Amino acid sequence: MDLSTTYLGLKLRTPLVVSASPLSQEIEQIKQMEQAGAAAVVLGSLFEEEIETDPAASEGFRVGPQAYLKHIAEAKRSVKIPIIASLNCTTLGGWISYARQITEAGADALELNIYKISARASVTGGVIEESYIDTVRTVRAATKIPLAVKVSPYFSNFANMAASFDALGVDALVLFNRFYQPDIDLEKMEVAPNLTLSTPADMRLRCAGSEFFSAKSAPASLPPAAFIRRTT
Ligand SMILES: Cc1cc2nc3c(=O)[nH]c(=O)nc-3n(C[C@H](O)[C@H](O)[C@H](O)COP(=O)(O)O)c2cc1C
Repeated sequence: MDLSTTYLGLKLRTPLVVSASPLSQEIEQIKQMEQAGAAAVVLGSLFEEEIETDPAASEGFRVGPQAYLKHIAEAKRSVKIPIIASLNCTTLGGWISYARQITEAGADALELNIYKISARASVTGGVIEESYIDTVRTVRAATKIPLAVKVSPYFSNFANMAASFDALGVDALVLFNRFYQPDIDLEKMEVAPNLTLSTPADMRLRCAGSEFFSAKSAPASLPPAAFIRRTT
């Protein structure tokens, strides 16, 4: 069966794209993913925050820009499938600089892992949304390679944000980023950092997000009753 498709303007043999994670940390694993049928791989993100806080560790894949850029080039040499870099920055200067360097390193595309969660009650949702838009506009101007934005499911009006990104010339939206959710240890009464992997039930949120892009179902709002009627 021919499952070929295009994503970010790139021809893919199937729609199976490996999401950003440590799975792509080793070249050998990227090769294995290609052999297992991955049509493209998104590298784990380069985090500007980690570079700033731990410059001494700059040789590590997860932190060092030079190592990350080398990793892109090596991955490109090692496999035929597209290699999509991923970036998370804390400053506009960082977004510009690393987007350019990633482009020069030969990445086929760039995914923006924008992660802005404010703990300040004085910051409005509008301010955060504007900063997302500024970031995307800035990176779009800094590089010509295809651009994906990994989005949050938690905007007040996801459809509006999606349309704004589209208008800025973004080539794809990735639904959705999964923000860090710590547990609370009730015995010790403290926050317990741990990572739980997703379950099939998590697909529902992605499906709900996809609803916004369906031409047939684009009413002014998506009331709960509409969802319920469609499933009965
Ligand atoms: C261990 C781990 C590391 C991850 N690292 C990154 C990362 O560096 N950058 C990023 O954008 N997403 C990262 N993610 C998020 C995944 O790419 C993916 O978007 C998320 O897990 C949601 O997909 P899922 O529901 O299939 O897990 C990571 C996820 C896991 C579990």
